[in-house]
Amino acid sequence: MLVLAHVSDIHVDGTERNTSRAARALDYARALRPDAILLTGDIADNGAVEEYEIVRELIKGDDVPLVLCPGNHDARGNLRKVLLGLDGDHPANQALNLENATIALCDSSIPGLPEGRLDDETLDWLDGVLSATPGVPAFVGMHHPAAELGIPYVDGIRLREPERLARVLGRHDHVVAVLAGHAHTAAATTFAGLPLLVAPGVVNTGLLPFETDALPPVDLTLPPAIAIHLLDDGRITTHYRPVP
Ligand SMILES: [Fe+2]
Repeated sequence: MLVLAHVSDIHVDGTERNTSRAARALDYARALRPDAILLTGDIADNGAVEEYEIVRELIKGDDVPLVLCPGNHDARGNLRKVLLGLDGDHPANQALNLENATIALCDSSIPGLPEGRLDDETLDWLDGVLSATPGVPAFVGMHHPAAELGIPYVDGIRLREPERLARVLGRHDHVVAVLAGHAHTAAATTFAGLPLLVAPGVVNTGLLPFETDALPPVDLTLPPAIAIHLLDDGRITTHYRPVP
């Protein structure tokens, strides 16, 4: 059985609170001894080099493979430089080829904007990764959910032009799920005929409009949480786990 620990939106901002919550989530994920840890964006709260240096310490020395992608709070150039050792500010797309699974995390960020979009370079990259591993179960992840989740605040800044992603996914029948973050709430829906599984929040939890009048609609008191995706005999099961 394949085990993926999915952490998202750690929003490291230099405060002890957010660093501690991020560390708790990542430590819990690591202790599961999963096949990989996925970090789907909003890694730094302001995209600052100093924030990524804190993240680099949090993920350092980990012998579990870790793949990540940026979110709208990230700064591509700084993330690439500090976390990936790469120059430039191209989309930060990352693939992990395991023996029994392919994980492709796409950069859905648009510099300076809260909503998301996959540009041509990223979609071509995704198509190439999926074409190279036919028959191997594939997980396609990104920060922005490609479908509405019933939270207007988040839905307004979801992935734009999702049909472009659906077209690529439609060419590859070995994709088993689409993974996302951004909404800070454990949610499950469908997109392009696939499960669309959204990681819960680490620094806060997104609430439905009929749960709160707050704007942004978040709860700061609920514990950090992660998603644990299991793949067994081609079928995915997701568990959502608050982190002590
Ligand atoms: Fe976020």
